[in-house]
Amino acid sequence: MRIDIITVLPELLRSPFEASILKRAIEANLVEVHFHNLRDYTSDNYKSVDDYQFGGGAGMVMMIEPIDKCISKLQAERNYDEIIYMTPDGETLNQSIANEMSLKKNIIILCGHYKGVDQRVRDMFITREISIGDYVLSGGELGAAVLCDAIIRLVPGVLGNETSALTDSFQDNLLAPPIYTRPRDYQGHKVPEILLSGNFPEIEKWREEQALKRTEERRPDLLED
Ligand code: ADE
Repeated sequence: MRIDIITVLPELLRSPFEASILKRAIEANLVEVHFHNLRDYTSDNYKSVDDYQFGGGAGMVMMIEPIDKCISKLQAERNYDEIIYMTPDGETLNQSIANEMSLKKNIIILCGHYKGVDQRVRDMFITREISIGDYVLSGGELGAAVLCDAIIRLVPGVLGNETSALTDSFQDNLLAPPIYTRPRDYQGHKVPEILLSGNFPEIEKWREEQALKRTEERRPDLLED
C-alpha cells in the first residue's frame, strides 16, 4: 500500500511514522508513506498557498492551483483508489472505514489548513472526506496521522500476531473485554479465576459476555443496529 500525504506542515507529521508499528511497517516495505509539501507546488515568490475569501469573511482559504499541481503530478505517476480530504465536516472515522481503506493500493490524503480548501478542490478531486471527531483541529495533519495509524495496523503482515487486529474493540461492533497479565494477585486485586482455569471454551464464553457487558454499559449505541 502507498499513502501520499499533501500538507503545508510536513514536520508536524513525521514523528508518528518514525516510531513503533508504523515505522516497522514502512521498514518492512508493507507500506510506503510520502509527504508532499504544498509550498513546493506554488508559482509565486512568496510560495503562497492561501488567499482571502471571495465574498469577505474572516480566515484564509487554501488555493486550488498548488493542490491541483500536486495531485495531478501524483496521478500522472499512478492510479489512486481514493483522494481523501481531512475536514471536520467529513464523515466520522470509524473501524469500518479503516478496514475498507486498509484494502486500497494507493491513496492520497490532503490536509486542510486555515478555513479549509477552495470548494472546487473538493468538487474536482476529492473522493472521500473524513473527520476524526466532532471538534476542530488547527489542521488536517493530526487527523491524517490518526487515519494512517488506524489503516496501517490493519495491513496484512503489519501486526506481529495476525489475529490481534480481529479482536480489537469495534471490530465486531463490541468493545474489547478486560485483559490481565502477571501477577495473579496484586495487593489483593485478583485476576478472574476463569482466566487461570485452562478451560478455553469457557474462557472464550466469559470474554464474549464481558465484551457485551462493557458495550452495554459504555457504548449502547454500538448495539443498536
Ligand atoms: N481538520 C480540522 N479538524 C479536523 C477533524 N476533526 N478531523 C479531520 N480533519 C480536521
